[in-house]
Amino acid sequence: TTARVVVDRDFTVGPVPHRLFGSFVEHMGRCVYTGIYEPGHPSADEQGFRTDVLELVRELGPTVVRYPGGNFVSGYRWTDGIGPVEERPRRLEGAWHTVESNAFGLHEFVAWARTAGVEVMEAINLGTAGVEEARALVEYANHPGGTYWSDLRRRNGAEEPFDIRLWCLGNEMDGPWQIGHKTAEEYGRLAQEAAKAMRLVDPGLELVACGSSNSRMPTFGAWEQTVLSHAYDEVDFISLHAYYQEHEGDVASFLACAYDTDYFIESVVATADAVGAKRKSTKRINLSFDEWNVWYQRGQETEDQLHQLVKQPWREHPRLIEDTYNVTDAVVVGTLLNSLLRHGDRVTVANQAQLVNVIAPIRSEEGGPAWRQTIFHPFAQTARLARGQIMRTAVTSDRHHSDRFGDVDTVDVACTWDEGTGRLALFLANRGLEEASDVEVVLRGLQAGADGLTGRVLTVPEDGDRFTANTEDAQDRVGLSDLPVDVQDGSVRVSLPPLSWAC
Ligand code: AHR
Repeated sequence: TTARVVVDRDFTVGPVPHRLFGSFVEHMGRCVYTGIYEPGHPSADEQGFRTDVLELVRELGPTVVRYPGGNFVSGYRWTDGIGPVEERPRRLEGAWHTVESNAFGLHEFVAWARTAGVEVMEAINLGTAGVEEARALVEYANHPGGTYWSDLRRRNGAEEPFDIRLWCLGNEMDGPWQIGHKTAEEYGRLAQEAAKAMRLVDPGLELVACGSSNSRMPTFGAWEQTVLSHAYDEVDFISLHAYYQEHEGDVASFLACAYDTDYFIESVVATADAVGAKRKSTKRINLSFDEWNVWYQRGQETEDQLHQLVKQPWREHPRLIEDTYNVTDAVVVGTLLNSLLRHGDRVTVANQAQLVNVIAPIRSEEGGPAWRQTIFHPFAQTARLARGQIMRTAVTSDRHHSDRFGDVDTVDVACTWDEGTGRLALFLANRGLEEASDVEVVLRGLQAGADGLTGRVLTVPEDGDRFTANTEDAQDRVGLSDLPVDVQDGSVRVSLPPLSWAC
C-alpha cells in the first residue's frame, strides 16, 4: 500500500502541550504498592521508592502524573494519608475491594513526583466528600503557613507548600459504578461550588471538571452540556476517558480505534464551544484526556467487574488488571498518541492510565525486576521527540475496511517541527496486517537534512507474531529497531513494515 503526506511550514495546529504526555498513579492493585513504592525491595531508596521503576519512568518521560485515583478517589479521605505512618488508619477501600494501609499518601506522592521530575495533578473526592474537604486539602497543600491546615502540613514535615496547580474535580462522576455517582445537574453544581471554594483559598488553580467516562455512555454529550452550563466560568478543562480493546478478533476496528478518539475529542470541543457561545463567553474550555489506553475488559463493563470483585476476599494490593501488551496494542497506542497530538490545540492535558502494573507501560514484580511493556516504546519516543509546533498533515492513504468505522486510512500520521533545533518529527503507523506501506512525506518550506535522518520502528519480531509481548522472562522481545529513511527532492520516503509504528 502507499500513502502521501504533505506538511507545510505555515500550517500548524499549535505548540505541543507540555502536559500531553501525562500518566496516572492510582491506589489500585499494584500501581503504588510494589509498583512505585516498595520499601524492602533491593532497589528501594531511603523513602521506599523503587529506583529501578524510577529509572524506567524517567525513560518513559511523563510530564505530569494524576493521583490518587480513579475510582479510588471517590471514597478516599485524604487525611488518612498524612501524619505519622504508624498512626494512619487501615481502611476497607470500596472501589477496588482492597485493604488500604495508607502507608503511602500525599507527602509520599509529592516526594516521589519530585524525584521523578513530574508535575502533580491532584484529584479530589466528590463522591463521598465535598466542598469542605476540597478547600481544606488546597489549604494543606498550597498555603504557606500560619493556618490550621498549612501548619499541619509543616508539622508533618513539609515546610514549603506543595504548590499543586492542576486539580481534577472528582472522577467519572457520570458512571453508575462510581461511589457517590451523581446526575449531571447534581455534579455540575457541586463542581461549580467546589471550584469556587478552592479558588478562594488559592486563585491560581487550574481545574478539570469530569466529562464522560467514554463516548458510548448513555449520557455522553448531554452530560458535558449540563455540567458546563453550571461550571463554565469556574473550570478550565473538561475531562475525557477512553479505553480500547480488540473485540472478538475484529483487529481492523481495534487498529482504527483512534477514529473514536478523534470523534470523541471533536464532539466534546463542539459541545464545550456551544455552551460558551450560548453564554457569549470568549473563554475557551480545553480538554483533559486524563485516562486513555488499551484495556482488555473482556466484554465486561466496569460495573460487572466490580460485582465480580466483591466476591473476592479483602486483600492488600492484589493483582488487578495487569494486562500484558503485545505488538498490536503498541501500534494502537501509537495511533492514540497521534490523535492526541493532532488535537493538541484543545487537548492540552492527557494521561495514559496507568503508570506501573495496572494497565501500564511499566511492569514490576514484588522483590523482582521491572521491565518495559510493548506500549512503553511509542509513548517514550513520542514524549521525547514531539517538540515545537504540531504540524497539520494532509494525508492521502490507501484505505481498508473496518466493521466499526467503515473505510479507514491504512497509514496514520502526526508530525511536529521544532524551529529552534530544526528538528522535524514524524510519527507513523501502518494498520495493515499483510502489506508494507510506502510513505512519501512532502515537505513544503521545511528541510529534511539527509545527515540527521534516523528512523526507528516497532513491529512484529522475526520469530514472533502480532500477539508477541514482553514478559518477565523475555523482557525485550518487542522493541525498536532501525528503519531506513530516504530523502529525495525534499521528500522523505520510508517503507513501513506490516503492523508497525515508527518515528
Ligand atoms: O484506570 C482504571 C479505572 O478506570 C479508573 O479507576 C477509573 O477512573 C476508570 O474507570
